[in-house]
Amino acid sequence: MPDKTIINTGLRGVTIASTKISDVDGAIGRLVYRGYLAKDLAEKVTFEEVIHLLLYEKLPNRNELANLKKNIHNHSHLPDSIIAAMKTFPKDSLPMDVLQSVIPMLAHHDPFVKKTITRDMALEIGINLIAKMSSIVAAWERIRKGLAPVMAAPEMSHAANFIYMMKGKKPDKDIAHFMDTALVLHAEHSFNASTFAAREVASTRAHMYAAITAAIGSLSGELHGGANTRVMEMLKKIGSLDNVDGYVENELKAGRKVMGLGHAVYKVDDPRALVLAPMSKKMGEKSGETKWYEISAKLEKCAKDAFLKEKNMEIFVNVDYYSASLYYSMGIPMDFFTPVFAISRISGWVAHVIEEQFAEAAPQPVLYRPESEYVGEYCGPNVCTYEEIDER
Ligand SMILES: CC(C)(COP(=O)(O)OP(=O)(O)OC[C@H]1O[C@@H](n2cnc3c(N)ncnc32)[C@H](O)[C@@H]1OP(=O)(O)O)[C@@H](O)C(=O)NCCC(=O)NCCS
Repeated sequence: MPDKTIINTGLRGVTIASTKISDVDGAIGRLVYRGYLAKDLAEKVTFEEVIHLLLYEKLPNRNELANLKKNIHNHSHLPDSIIAAMKTFPKDSLPMDVLQSVIPMLAHHDPFVKKTITRDMALEIGINLIAKMSSIVAAWERIRKGLAPVMAAPEMSHAANFIYMMKGKKPDKDIAHFMDTALVLHAEHSFNASTFAAREVASTRAHMYAAITAAIGSLSGELHGGANTRVMEMLKKIGSLDNVDGYVENELKAGRKVMGLGHAVYKVDDPRALVLAPMSKKMGEKSGETKWYEISAKLEKCAKDAFLKEKNMEIFVNVDYYSASLYYSMGIPMDFFTPVFAISRISGWVAHVIEEQFAEAAPQPVLYRPESEYVGEYCGPNVCTYEEIDER
């Protein structure tokens, strides 16, 4: 047996596959989707165009975009049996758990899952999942409130439709635009934890529903997508600008993590946070409540000082930091912040599952199967001798 390389750092810095989908340069804060800067895309294109870029490997022309929008709309309707099943869930179920339950249920309705599929079929499944993910999240908000689900309107964008289906009221232009930009910014981020989970499952040749379900589970954790809800809980706990001073220092002294700060890859400002911060400010002004942005901005400054003082290190805000106050000002329920992340990131997950299973160029993907170092028991130099149950 060759010597094992023991890596106990959450695979930081370990390159495990190649990808054509996105690139993150953590040293300079650069995020690229298929060659384009994410911050440029956030300014100039819609989420649907990003879906096309990620899945079909190019920005769409007008015709391709119109076809994609129509396709998304056609897939957005949830089967009655799914709505009926969701109505049986406890009303206080976590929305991420609802997603993790309903996505595999969709597989029952898909005849492709029992077949060997082509890349085109996988793309169609992906569009179906992207379309239905936002319908599920929106429907859950209605169902848990005892309201009837609302169907997507064909003339509206995916972002606007999500808010419409959730609230039953069409969003104004600004809110639809903020939602769309947030979806663009959260769409893709190379081998982050949830994408790795999706690719790992896809590497076993399991179907897309299984891979996406695993990714949802991974995203739900507070060190990953779950951080945006935790950030808002923190802002509410702080409550006012007067309580910001000393907050981060106390958290660090108590050995607690401060949510929305730090990143496994970025060692400078997260380029997505740089776009989200001014959006949070504008949305705060629009909603008439600027407090949440103001607390966030002051806390960011204080946190930078506190980390230098307490840990002698620089810290930066990540994507979840300003998205929290942005979503809150938009009237999105706090436990829906991570599902909003999911309705965007599913576009990246689908692109990665397809790359994992249908890569044309060498090296061909293989089953992921890392090793571990056994640090458990042995009995002396040998394995333990089995004892009969009455002798233990
Ligand atoms: C994302 C995260 C898991 C990355 O962790 P990481 O790769 O270990 O980050 P680093 O290597 O830069 O951490 C270096 C040190 O800073 C600490 N640190 C990093 N982020 C921190 C945070 N938000 N709060 C407190 N301490 C933090 C680490 O614990 C570590 O301390 P130590 O050396 O005393 O053990 C971490 O920053 C974190 O937990 N952030 C809060 C959760 C969050 O916002 N997640 C969303 C990410 S997009």
